[in-house]
Amino acid sequence: RSISSRHLSCPGTVAANFGSEEQPSGGAETGSEDKIPKKRFSEVQEERREQAQRTVLIHCPNNINEKKFLKYLSQHGPINNHFFYESFGLYAVVEFCQKDGVNSLQNGTHIPKQSTEPAIPFKSRFLNLKLKNSSNQIPEELHAQTNNQSPPSSKKLFELLNYAENIDDQLNTLLKAFQLTEENVRLRHLTCSLVEDIAAAYFPGCVVRPFGSSVNTFGKLGCDLDMFLDLDEIGKLDVHKNAGNFSTEFQMKTVPSERIATQKILSVIGECLDNFGPGCVGVQKILNARCPLVRFSHQASGFQCDLTTNNSIALKSSELLYIYGSLDTRVRALVFSVRCWARAHSLTSSIPGSWITNFSLTVMVIFFLQRRSPPILPTLDSLKSLADAQDRCILDGHNCTFVRDLYKIKPSGNTETLELLLKEFFEYFGNFAFNKNSINIRQGREQNKPDSSPLYIQNPFETSLNISKNVSQSQLQKFVDLARDSAWILEQEDKGQPSLSSKKPWGLATLLLPPGAVNTPLSKKKKKPVSEKVKGLLASIKSSTADSSKGTHGK
Ligand code: CTP
Ligand code: MG
Repeated sequence: RSISSRHLSCPGTVAANFGSEEQPSGGAETGSEDKIPKKRFSEVQEERREQAQRTVLIHCPNNINEKKFLKYLSQHGPINNHFFYESFGLYAVVEFCQKDGVNSLQNGTHIPKQSTEPAIPFKSRFLNLKLKNSSNQIPEELHAQTNNQSPPSSKKLFELLNYAENIDDQLNTLLKAFQLTEENVRLRHLTCSLVEDIAAAYFPGCVVRPFGSSVNTFGKLGCDLDMFLDLDEIGKLDVHKNAGNFSTEFQMKTVPSERIATQKILSVIGECLDNFGPGCVGVQKILNARCPLVRFSHQASGFQCDLTTNNSIALKSSELLYIYGSLDTRVRALVFSVRCWARAHSLTSSIPGSWITNFSLTVMVIFFLQRRSPPILPTLDSLKSLADAQDRCILDGHNCTFVRDLYKIKPSGNTETLELLLKEFFEYFGNFAFNKNSINIRQGREQNKPDSSPLYIQNPFETSLNISKNVSQSQLQKFVDLARDSAWILEQEDKGQPSLSSKKPWGLATLLLPPGAVNTPLSKKKKKPVSEKVKGLLASIKSSTADSSKGTHGK
């Protein structure tokens, strides 16, 4: 196991295979990717969930002495792992070896004495640590070291990229700088686990699972936390006693449709989060969206959270992306660079609208890698053909079957460099016939577009849906123009322009510079007057309000 030993200090606990340490970049050159245990998605998620259940989140005073803190908590049971981080205050994530440690700590914790405002006595695993004698100053070197949860600043990124040896190295450097760290992954699972405790007050036995970029291997530090309230597990706990002539079932309220059930459940969970959820703020119920959701911010972790229910297809598509991201080390490096490139040029945005999304970009990279010769990634149909009986999965009438054991998939014989792939990616999509063709990772072939949406990317499982339905013609055009410019820039680099050792950005860094900073064919074009930019922005906002009624998930 490549996970560092500090995670293995407890006998009997398992470290899960996900996060930066387990996904070293540059494995292609070193062959180290062979040594990475390729765990199944479900295995990783199960281990992370169990780990999160043994974990607590503690708000600490700033001048805490780490040693004494650990000694104090160890009274409740051995600790397997801990780290501190800052987010409007100092927090500690503490993982006990057993769940008993958490229970003991909770039993020794008291409800705050009424101060100015009355508190709602909900006992969670999010605690406050108080120093009995706060005047005790401790020397700075004893202060707890904090772990960073934010992405690098652009200044830092440009520094890192300039130090790299070549463009391939730059792509791997960017991946390392932005990918979720082990600690960040833990914090994401812990946040889901804390939300699960709140939802379980209504629905004992429910499960809150992270999905989307938090788990699909394409998450960047700072990305949102998508979670899914899984109520199907509740029924699985039932024990059916068949003795005698009778059986019993629960009396339950019924509703006219699945959608109404989803709305009612999310509405009540939204209320719980808002009224009783420690640290949950800005709760918005977006129930009329195509895929209803509750959006809130989990203040202590700093995550923007989107909670949905009845969304198991989205979880399955996260699993599919996990497989694609784990098959070849080049995939994630390329996706991260393309995502950063798109963000740098405002092709993507944190506000929903007529912009292309990271999910669409990721599927475009996967499609491009399926089109290489020999292919770097297999088609979804070929993953389906490798599936066995246990892999069979039908969700809401959609066939979501594909092989889940990574070892059954033959590695690609393609040895193209990242530099070449990045250039070819821009070239490919700079010249793609978007007006007549759609992108389809199921067959790994372009197909005739079934409707006139500017960008058509078939949803891999709900095959009648377009995952990029929201993208406007002007946003697509902007993508195409920038892709062509970027291919051109990389082409120039190829021609041996002086770059290395100079302070001037080169290679990938040039592609991430704000528009206008590089002498490209696009920046030579006359800039749009400000009024036009404002018009464009207004149009985007308008379509974003129209889009938000369709929701952001599971389209
Ligand atoms: N999803 C989908 N169809 C869409 C949008 C989203 O199936 N049109 C699913 C995908 O599984 C996606 C997940 O919902 O991964 C979460 O959506 P979103 O947060 O928009 O994308 P992420 O992949 O999480 O990327 P980001 O880092 O931008 O959050
Ligand atoms: Mg997301």
